[in-house]
Amino acid sequence: MASQILRRPRRFRINEVDAYDPDIMEVLKDLHARTFLDRAPLPDFEIGHWWITTETGRPTAFAGLIPSALGDGIGYLSRVGVLRERCGYGLQRRMIRAIEQRARPSGLYCIVSDTTDNIVSANNFIRCGYSLFQPVQPWAWGNSLYWRKMIGA
Ligand SMILES: CC(C)(COP(=O)(O)OP(=O)(O)OC[C@H]1O[C@@H](n2cnc3c(N)ncnc32)[C@H](O)[C@@H]1OP(=O)(O)O)[C@@H](O)C(=O)NCCC(=O)NCCS
Repeated sequence: MASQILRRPRRFRINEVDAYDPDIMEVLKDLHARTFLDRAPLPDFEIGHWWITTETGRPTAFAGLIPSALGDGIGYLSRVGVLRERCGYGLQRRMIRAIEQRARPSGLYCIVSDTTDNIVSANNFIRCGYSLFQPVQPWAWGNSLYWRKMIGA
């Protein structure tokens, strides 16, 4: 509670980026390495759409939305990573909402994702309106949770 009161307001900007740009690709790789450490393989940033959050120009967080193997019209929220020193400002939720705004007009009607031993991330999915579901063919780990949200009009 005390940390909430003392926390300075910050100015974050969330922008969709062109991952084909080599400089952007380097930033995404760096953010991935610093947020996921060695816990997840590097995604193919040339697939799907990617967002970077900056704070006064400095990259702070990233997220991606790629086509889901579950079918047409379904997007898979591939990664969300926030630099440790900027965790706690609700950036995961803000990026999820920014991605949903982009996904709707693109014709997606559903977004899915998964979490594994990650209470912070699971709570953020719940707060963004995602529900647990059980895929017919689970793609992650035995203890992973699967999240789904219908975003169509
Ligand atoms: C999961 C993640 C994206 C959440 O970041 P975030 O949006 O900044 O988190 P929130 O703002 O919702 O933080 C909620 C609370 O959890 C805490 N928290 C968030 N991330 C934390 C972390 N990695 N370690 C410890 N505490 C963390 C925050 O400090 C905050 O606590 P407070 O309310 O007492 O201040 C971020 O922790 C992260 O990048 N983790 C590594 C990569 C990862 O696991 N991604 C998700 C894969 S599904």
